[in-house]
Amino acid sequence: MELIQDTSRPPLEYVKGIPLIKYFAEALGSLQSFEAWPDDLLISTYPKSGTTWVSEILDLIYQRGDLEKCQRAPIFIRVPFLEFKVPGVPTGIETLEDTPAPRLLKTHLPLTLLPQSLLDQKVKVVYVARNPKDVAVSYYHFYRMAKVHPDPGTWDSFLEKFMAGEVSYGSWYQHVQEWWELRHTQPVLYLFYEDIKEDPKREIQKILEFVGRSLPEETVDHIVQQASFKEMKKNPMTNYSTIPTDIMDHSVSAFMRKGATGDWKSTFTVAQNERFEANYATKMAGCSLHFRWEL
Ligand code: A3P
Repeated sequence: MELIQDTSRPPLEYVKGIPLIKYFAEALGSLQSFEAWPDDLLISTYPKSGTTWVSEILDLIYQRGDLEKCQRAPIFIRVPFLEFKVPGVPTGIETLEDTPAPRLLKTHLPLTLLPQSLLDQKVKVVYVARNPKDVAVSYYHFYRMAKVHPDPGTWDSFLEKFMAGEVSYGSWYQHVQEWWELRHTQPVLYLFYEDIKEDPKREIQKILEFVGRSLPEETVDHIVQQASFKEMKKNPMTNYSTIPTDIMDHSVSAFMRKGATGDWKSTFTVAQNERFEANYATKMAGCSLHFRWEL
């Protein structure tokens, strides 16, 4: 009961102008002294963009498709989440202490909050972006089930907050653009959720080339299969079912919810869509990024 009171829906805290889950904001102090290793690989995303999917793909690649090895621990232990902190659960930094090289790391942080060492060490980054209409819907349901977030309110009010950047991790628009620009100065492989849905094998080949590894074709096919939505939804090492229910309540909405592109159409009203599109055009003006809203 105490854990429920402790973790239940604290307001977001602003750090350098970025709203964050209260506990994650508290973790940032000790994270600034984090030392990256040159062979680290950072998976960076705005929340709900396919982080868990690409994390599982990368661990499968690092374990050469050996599913048993990928069953060794839940995804958030195999791929430590740098800024993660929730009462009663090991922090991302604590998890890192037991993680051998070569390490896979996860963050959702915007660049202004990223530990400098990752940039100084020129750590390779796999960034995944997803169209913001599907992100907003996924994020709304995630807010409902993950009680470290404030109450999302109605879908309509949540969508307004999303467009204004008043959700955890701030503006989607700024996040996707600043990591897109980073590819000019850092080793960044910029992927899209929709592309992975369309042709996972093609995108896995891109990742293999980027990380300088090669695998037999049948192993790549096996990875495609093991990292499918159907497999990951029933796998306790990827579906977050090992997290206590008072932190994530899958009976409200499953972490592995739909795994679809274009699902936003069943949620957005015509008026919400028009408003979103006008806002999108303003926020993304002059940016060369192109998103696909359906497949
Ligand atoms: P939905 O809520 O739209 O279903 P993240 O890992 O960044 O939090 O993203 C979670 C989103 O990715 C959820 O979207 C989840 O279902 C989806 N997802 C996770 N694994 C997936 C997979 N193997 N294939 C497709 N989508 C996946």
